[in-house]
Amino acid sequence: MTTGGLFISFEGIDGAGKSTHIDGLAQAFRTQGRAVTLTREPGGTPLAEKLRTMVLNDAMDAMTEALLVFAARRDHLQQLIEPALARGDVVLCDRFTDATFAYQGGGRGFDHEMLSILEQWVQGTRGIDANFVRQPDLTVWFDLPAEIAAQRLAGARVPDKFEAQPVEFFRRVSDGYRQRMLAFPHRFARINADSTREAVWLDVLQAVRRRGWLA
Ligand code: TYD
Repeated sequence: MTTGGLFISFEGIDGAGKSTHIDGLAQAFRTQGRAVTLTREPGGTPLAEKLRTMVLNDAMDAMTEALLVFAARRDHLQQLIEPALARGDVVLCDRFTDATFAYQGGGRGFDHEMLSILEQWVQGTRGIDANFVRQPDLTVWFDLPAEIAAQRLAGARVPDKFEAQPVEFFRRVSDGYRQRMLAFPHRFARINADSTREAVWLDVLQAVRRRGWLA
């Protein structure tokens, strides 16, 4: 079993139901004696949380949105994620860059090439190793049809800017995630989120166990 730092991200359209499973996984790692850093994007640091409030509530064009989520990500990586990984923590992150490709790229139609450039810059550690770009060791994608997610979200709470989008938007977001999975098949574990909570949880556990990270 590995004892070095582990970086796991969780993705899916709004309503896909990732939160309880992230908490469950944090508990499972802690039970095995691992230190866990639980965090989220956009957010995770005081500055990034301020940017989150803007991104989730203020109207802006897709490029501004992309720049703000990457600015938040840069601060998050530098202040929280990289130090936690260096300590050997398990970092569980509710969304990461795949969300930018899915939401700003797929959902809002922003240029993927520009997103890739930002990804290289923001997640790169220039100076130490010019080729290194930080990525999750595993990305757990909760795949749920957009129509079902919309039913789950309906009336659940006051929707933010993204949650208020029509079902077609979330179909494009889902396609964005699918494209990222096809581009990075080894990093991705696709979970069928259209199932009971227990079945989804077993799939999540299995995805982590298969990699030898949990007994
Ligand atoms: P979410 O993670 O669903 O948190 P909550 O459960 O509190 O609503 O909300 C974050 C929202 O931000 C979600 O709608 C997706 C969006 N988002 C982007 O558009 N781009 C990004 O790069 C990230 C990380 C999130």
